[in-house]
Amino acid sequence: MAGQIPRQFIDDLLARTDIVELIDQRVPLKKKGRNHSACCPFHNEKTPSFTVSQDKQFYHCFGCGAHGNAITFLMEYEQLEFPEAIEELAAMHHLEVPREGGGPARPSGQADDYELMQKVSSLWQQQLQHGPASAQAQAYLKRRGLSANTVQKFGIGVAPDSWDFVLRQLGKDKKVRDQLVELKLTSRNEQGREYDFFRNRLMFPIRDRRGRVIAFGGRVFDDGTPKYLNSPETRLFHKGRELYGLFEARQQQERLEQVLVVEGYMDVVALSEQGIDFAVASLGTATTNDHMQTLFRYCRSVVCCYDGDRAGRDAAWRALQNALPQLKDGVELKFVFLPDGEDPDSMVQKEGKEAFLTRVAAAASLQHYFFEYLLTQHDASSDAGKSALLAEGKALIGQIPSEFYREQLSDKLHNLIGKPKEVKAAPGKGITARYLPKAQSMTPMRRAIALLLQYPALANSIPQAQELAGAQLPGFDLLLALQQKILEIPGVRTAQLLEHWRNSQEYPILNKLAVWDPQLEPEQIEPEFVDTFAAIEDLYLQQRLEALERTAKLQKLTSVEQQEYVLLLTALKSRKPRSAPS
Ligand code: UTP
Ligand code: MN
Repeated sequence: MAGQIPRQFIDDLLARTDIVELIDQRVPLKKKGRNHSACCPFHNEKTPSFTVSQDKQFYHCFGCGAHGNAITFLMEYEQLEFPEAIEELAAMHHLEVPREGGGPARPSGQADDYELMQKVSSLWQQQLQHGPASAQAQAYLKRRGLSANTVQKFGIGVAPDSWDFVLRQLGKDKKVRDQLVELKLTSRNEQGREYDFFRNRLMFPIRDRRGRVIAFGGRVFDDGTPKYLNSPETRLFHKGRELYGLFEARQQQERLEQVLVVEGYMDVVALSEQGIDFAVASLGTATTNDHMQTLFRYCRSVVCCYDGDRAGRDAAWRALQNALPQLKDGVELKFVFLPDGEDPDSMVQKEGKEAFLTRVAAAASLQHYFFEYLLTQHDASSDAGKSALLAEGKALIGQIPSEFYREQLSDKLHNLIGKPKEVKAAPGKGITARYLPKAQSMTPMRRAIALLLQYPALANSIPQAQELAGAQLPGFDLLLALQQKILEIPGVRTAQLLEHWRNSQEYPILNKLAVWDPQLEPEQIEPEFVDTFAAIEDLYLQQRLEALERTAKLQKLTSVEQQEYVLLLTALKSRKPRSAPS
């Protein structure tokens, strides 16, 4: 296993990085007051609501809610995994990423895993041109209507009908043979005998977002089973995350306008052959939440294309359910159903590009399909059906982050069951309000956390009240942990602090608090913080006092408890009465 990247290194990296410069190189920023702004790179907009704060080293979009530090920005903007973003930041500063425990920088072998996958892919491509299986495979491709160009674009090849083709070509060295087994290119049986995993199949390399081969799908030439054999999960390949054809589609257009989600390898390839080069396939699994998240990062319009039969409709419904949590403002999800017995491959070959695109353009909206499907499940003419419809509809709608879609769908839902929708929340300040904690949810605790997070220097303005750590006040532990962290890392800024909580439960709320606007003049900040903290202490003291009073009703207080009681009373009396912070 790879050694962990040391915390200290991540802190340093963030301290060295200027997020304004980092983002400006990718999304040109305009200085506006204390902040820098631009049209948000994560959703479509005409007026800038994306802001970058130099002080906090943090970005935030008031339109779509995207936010984070330099690492998050790279992950989102350049589609990198966390360690990759660290690698990239480090490279910018000409630093090597150290690993704890002296482990290798990457999981063992992974550096050349990609190389090995590519070698195998190339070998199979060569076999398609010259090998003994070439004639049969070429005839098959011709029958499927695929040109040399498309075959080349997708790197299609053929695995010859042999038990040990890959093994003979690459497996001279024991280390490589182990690697082949680990990457599931060969199998090893109980007797230790090794043989090729893919034999006598048309091979489709599956590439990751950066174009590296990470797995394969292989199709039989006849009606053998399984029709497609896919690489099992490996350290390179996580099925639920990858989309076949996404890399190739992005090669065509850097900023995809639309993506068509289809079911099969052949569908993607055949559509591309006909000049429709924006299709991707989920790899024989349902379209997952991860898939949808990836897709909406790349483009705003996702059209799911399925068979019109029962299975197709069910698959579309699963895709819809997985898409709901990803429905932000500014994106759209649509559905196309093909006539029974057709798939995109057969359809586009039959009717051609234009007719097929017309279908895509006429795709059913989310709202349309949402209710069409629900109404096949519930009988909206009976109260029993209506109440079930309402319950299911509400639960689904509740998962949608976009206010627009939430309202659109719940209006329609209430129409359907013939009941006016409950009174809408007071007209807010547009979309902005949603991403910020509401005024009434800004408890003193949250206020204190927000201030400390935004102005880390405040950590010295309050005592290190470790003895209060056990307080039953929600959020108090977090406040103290935050203070602790700040005292540990001199000069730490908001973005670095957030980094320490990235994988914790508190991360989302901390992010919200980081962008909450306290509406204070600079000189008011410290007194406000001290006051807020004092109010929290009062609360704690009060709580402790009441606990002792409850105990006293049941049993005599110990002398220690009596002492504490008196101390608490005096402490509370001596504090100047204060109004709770608004
Ligand atoms: P289909 O059976 O619809 O295949 O499976 P297809 O893409 O239309 O292929 P052709 O036209 O018959 O050649 C759709 C997808 O489901 C997965 C594959 O990803 C396939 O492309 N699948 C299907 C498997 O993984 N294994 C199978 O045995 C069958
Ligand atoms: Mn097909």
